[in-house]
Amino acid sequence: MIKKGIILAGGMGTRMSPLTKAVNKQLLPIYDKPLIFYSLSILMLAKIKNILIIVNKGQLSQYKNLLGDGKNLGIKIIYKEQDKPRGLPDAFILGENFIKKDKVALILGDNFFYGQSLTRTLLKCVKLKSGSKVILHRVINPEKFGVAKVKNKKIISIKEKPKNFLSDLAITGLYFFDNKVVNLSKNLKPSKRNELEITDLLNKYRQKKKLTAEYIGRGGAWLDTGSIEDFYKTTNFVSAVENRQGFKIACLEEISFQNKWIGKKEILNSIKFYGNCEYSKYLKKIIS
Ligand code: G1P
Repeated sequence: MIKKGIILAGGMGTRMSPLTKAVNKQLLPIYDKPLIFYSLSILMLAKIKNILIIVNKGQLSQYKNLLGDGKNLGIKIIYKEQDKPRGLPDAFILGENFIKKDKVALILGDNFFYGQSLTRTLLKCVKLKSGSKVILHRVINPEKFGVAKVKNKKIISIKEKPKNFLSDLAITGLYFFDNKVVNLSKNLKPSKRNELEITDLLNKYRQKKKLTAEYIGRGGAWLDTGSIEDFYKTTNFVSAVENRQGFKIACLEEISFQNKWIGKKEILNSIKFYGNCEYSKYLKKIIS
């Protein structure tokens, strides 16, 4: 079972400047919650309680003010600062002491996932015994992502932002790895843009026939929050779903309560912490 997860919440968010000049992108709102709630909720739905959040140097206190040590959410959060972005696999180098001898999940702090069968898929992924697992989703603009070509259910090739069409299956920003990931990341060479590339890391697993995939089908959504336009599209999606159903997406306390990690006491603490707002009203409904 994978019981540890890393959220990569660094990055300069250049495409969203000036919004991201003083505030980290993952703290900006997707409708009624900071973006980081959504990636954190995915780890919690996967029953992962032990979490490392990697943040930019100088922005640690912003995150601590929001999420603290996770105790009130029934989870354990530790943080690590990154002085500059060195690519996604740097998470496993920075996270070595956190990972120790265990397997680990990685989610990019700006990825949004939603869907009815999502939790089932996640619970399947954390059962990974060895190798690596990625989550694929069909998109109309694969050139913007890491892409996988699949034949007979096997990943036969992967490429980062391919200029020529390879497949329309994007590799989403949620990955599951065995413990070899630490050493494999350490041995990666920086790419032309001078960063360690996640696709190079995944290719190492693929070459050893140790890379498998799960899918988010038509009933699920994976949205990108890379640009301002995408940010608002995701906000509209969350607002449409929440206001229609009355359920919140990524209410951390609700997930924790359903997982039986916290009780009424912690929810009341949260209501006090957030103050008089819609989110608190929702929390009140959960315990009433
Ligand atoms: C990164 C990865 C890419 C993946 C994407 C998912 O791209 O390099 O393989 O498909 O995240 O969000 P970036 O968002 O850094 O361009």
